[in-house]
Amino acid sequence: MAEKIRVMIVDDIPETREQLRKLLSFDPDIEVVAMVGSGEEAVSTVTKTIPDVILMDINLPGIDGITATGKVVELIPTVQVIMLSVQGETDYMRRAMMAGARDYLTKPPSADELLDTIHRVFKLRQKMQTGPLSPATLGAARGGQATPTIRQGKVITLYSPKGGTGCTTTAVNVSIAMQAMLGTDYKICLVDTNLQFGDVVIFMKLQPSRTLTDLAQHAQDLDPDLFNTILVPHSSGVKVLAAPQSPEEAEIFQEGGVEDTGANSRLKTILNFARQEYDYIIIDTAHQVDDILLATLDLSDLFLIVTRPTIPEIRGARQFVELLQKLNYSFDRIGLVINSVDNKRMGIQPEAIERAMMPAIVHIPLDERIALKAANYGVPLIIQNAKTPLGQAIAGLAKSIHSRLTEAPPEQEDTANDTQRRGGGLGRLL
Ligand SMILES: Nc1ncnc2c1ncn2[C@@H]1O[C@H](COP(=O)(O)OP(=O)(O)O)[C@@H](O)[C@H]1O
Ligand SMILES: [Mg+2]
Repeated sequence: MAEKIRVMIVDDIPETREQLRKLLSFDPDIEVVAMVGSGEEAVSTVTKTIPDVILMDINLPGIDGITATGKVVELIPTVQVIMLSVQGETDYMRRAMMAGARDYLTKPPSADELLDTIHRVFKLRQKMQTGPLSPATLGAARGGQATPTIRQGKVITLYSPKGGTGCTTTAVNVSIAMQAMLGTDYKICLVDTNLQFGDVVIFMKLQPSRTLTDLAQHAQDLDPDLFNTILVPHSSGVKVLAAPQSPEEAEIFQEGGVEDTGANSRLKTILNFARQEYDYIIIDTAHQVDDILLATLDLSDLFLIVTRPTIPEIRGARQFVELLQKLNYSFDRIGLVINSVDNKRMGIQPEAIERAMMPAIVHIPLDERIALKAANYGVPLIIQNAKTPLGQAIAGLAKSIHSRLTEAPPEQEDTANDTQRRGGGLGRLL
């Protein structure tokens, strides 16, 4: 590398500064240009030393790391701040990211973590200086490939008009099943658009420090590194774009300022960006029809309606299908998931629902024991129960989705007649 990466270390404890300096000394591409003990000093020296990257401790005497980050980024917009903090300060971290920090690490970082992060954010800085993304710089920012892979991800949305139907359970488990089936060559992203009461992270025992809100603030200037920093990795390989942490945070999605692309342009911009980065984008939704849902409808390659075999739920699902008909939504993009099918054959038979609506893409069996355990432990059921009928049904759904979205589209049928035929038995059922 012709040019060394100029790093500034900000920490009030001299030993910590020295440890960080030692770790960095192993990398010939990095030069430590300043070590300071306070936020004030960081602000006053940053314009003299002009570092590329700052390692900033979050807890500092005087002005704290977050305030100092805001100030240094204001002075030198291209400086890349990596926040360092002890575990359990995720709320601080989020605020730091909002103040302009590029990434964060938990103390003490390993040498690999630290050096990788510095190199990554530095590449991002180079890109910011060279202006709009060219394929070559995009490639470089992703680890040196000359030509980036611009993916054309497929969007799969899961929706149920009523809560408690198993929408989140299905979205979480099918994402993991797809990742396990397709391997690491495929990038899978799970997005929780239940902006007010999203619980995907609970089902997966994740503690997100970054959520859709952070991305929504940057909707105009999304870049792959920022995007991937905000996604939360799950041990399965799936990356999660978490719902906002509090209902009021969701308000940012109602603000303008992003090129208007119809229903919720902020969310659409984010999802369209995700398509370039991921092969499959699986979306868990809230249970109301609003502009967030309409945005996901517009972008979905496959829109799955989840229902259980109870009259109120089937009725809700049927009404929703009717709404889609009114919106002239293509039936090729809709699928039906019947969850909690009681194999003891009590209650309404799934076949009756299919006759009333459309053939289901899967029947997922009812298994309260497994579902309850998964919910309470935050371990998705597919991880420990892949061989059970419930696990097998989810794996089958993953397979069906993949083949449906990779196979050539079927010959166009007469949709109007088809819909009438599907709706034929409804009067009897509902
Ligand atoms: N097939 C199933 N068998 C038994 N319980 C299930 C099944 N699917 C989901 N559940 C349980 O139903 C409850 C609601 O599921 P959830 O996925 O949160 O629904 P939604 O997202 O539609 O509100 C959860 O407690 C979940 O564990
Ligand atoms: Mg849910």
